[in-house]
Amino acid sequence: MSKFERIGLFGKSQSGKSTMMDRILRGQPRVILFDALPARAENASREGYVKIETMIELQEAVRRNYETGFRYWFKPENDEDFLVLALSDLSKFMIDHQDQYAAKYGLKNIADLVFAVDEMADCYPNHALPKKLNGFSKMCRSGRHSRIHLIGATQRPAEVGTKFRGQLEKRIFFTLTEPADLRAIADIGGAQGRMLAEAVSQLKALEYIRMENGTYTNGKLTFPKA
Ligand SMILES: Nc1ncnc2c1ncn2[C@@H]1O[C@H](COP(=O)(O)OP(=O)(O)OP(=O)(O)O)[C@@H](O)[C@H]1O
Ligand SMILES: [Mg+2]
Repeated sequence: MSKFERIGLFGKSQSGKSTMMDRILRGQPRVILFDALPARAENASREGYVKIETMIELQEAVRRNYETGFRYWFKPENDEDFLVLALSDLSKFMIDHQDQYAAKYGLKNIADLVFAVDEMADCYPNHALPKKLNGFSKMCRSGRHSRIHLIGATQRPAEVGTKFRGQLEKRIFFTLTEPADLRAIADIGGAQGRMLAEAVSQLKALEYIRMENGTYTNGKLTFPKA
């Protein structure tokens, strides 16, 4: 990952988002992966994540292992209101943690963190949130000033807060079919939005369009033979 990227992965169920996320995160030395679905278990263990289920334990573990590195799968309780709060609180913790180290050692001397959020529509909905839940909005806006990379994935781009959708250096679109989601993609694409939405609707499973600095490239996920 180059310097402080924010990456969005969009696509319907089984289109390839989590596979792409895993590949982007491979080799990253300090990762927190936020995913409330128990179905993550198999690939989390394959990708070397340690599962943590409470915020207190996660915070202690990050502090304890910051120097050496970690890969944590944070699996909060899968309750809608709680997820929004958990994402906000964790974002605030990560920013505070980085800022405290930066105050002590200087920003350029501290380690980068990678924050990965899967199934974003569940934890960062597309409606205004009260101030006490604004941690993730701040993460989207200014996490990179605290040396935090951000990567988020969703099946429902139309249902994810625009502060995430709007502030990304890189976007990877897998196939989408819901009209509301295709309208969201058209919004993201600006002047080329309608063409982008049309192209995204035509993709087959595992095919994607990558959008970066206004340029588009096509690709397809492949799986090496076991
Ligand atoms: N080793 C493999 N070989 C072939 N296909 C695979 C392999 N691993 C995963 N797949 C396929 O890749 C597809 C994409 O899975 P992935 O979990 O990345 O989707 P997703 O977009 O995250 O879906 P969801 O939104 O439901 O979480 C699935 O259809 C899966 O069967
Ligand atoms: Mg997935």
